[in-house]
Amino acid sequence: MIVDLLKKRCSLRKFKQMPITQDTIDYIIEAGRLSPSGGNEQPWIFGIINDKELIRKIAVASYNQEWITSAPLLIVLCTTIVEDERGARDIQVLRFPEWKNEILNMDKELYSKLNCEEHQSKIPGTHMVLAALEHGIYSTWVSYFNVSEVSELLNLPAAYMPSEILVFGYPEGEVKPRAKKKKDEILFFNSYTKF
Ligand SMILES: Cc1cc2nc3c(=O)[nH]c(=O)nc-3n(C[C@H](O)[C@H](O)[C@H](O)COP(=O)(O)O)c2cc1C
Repeated sequence: MIVDLLKKRCSLRKFKQMPITQDTIDYIIEAGRLSPSGGNEQPWIFGIINDKELIRKIAVASYNQEWITSAPLLIVLCTTIVEDERGARDIQVLRFPEWKNEILNMDKELYSKLNCEEHQSKIPGTHMVLAALEHGIYSTWVSYFNVSEVSELLNLPAAYMPSEILVFGYPEGEVKPRAKKKKDEILFFNSYTKF
């Protein structure tokens, strides 16, 4: 059951030197492929990285997060960058009319990087993390990395941007899920009242 699986999930930063089979990788990818997206646009591609040297270079580009090198598999979630971002700006203006001028005048390249639909890639990423866990494979999200360097390492065309790196592997050592906030710390009913 999904909540039982979620209770087991936790980020791990030390993995066994044990490869993940192609069948299992296919299962993980299938879980991501079936994700919802705005307008069913599926604005993503997924990079499967199992080359040890490339994993090491990505760890360096992730501001030297050395622990990444122990993982047998990375999946890099890449987001489609829409070249003409005009439509996206119009949507943001509708959401935040008080920031209309700032949104419409922001530098084109900066705007497309900051406002590309990267949040959407969190959905296939979440599916993948859970599908992997069904197979006893743990993972950690990594968003602390140099986007340009990782793009270059993956030879990504300008139309895509790496938005998240998922680091997968079988656990080495203790697996201990972290405490989460209690319901009464995160919920409000109808109208907000101070916690
Ligand atoms: C979007 C996202 C980005 C993250 N980036 C990093 C990262 O760059 N490096 C890292 O060690 N952990 C990273 N984490 C892992 C978090 O630190 C971890 O999820 C958090 O401490 C909660 O622990 P848990 O996953 O075990 O519940 C990231 C998590 C998320 C969801």
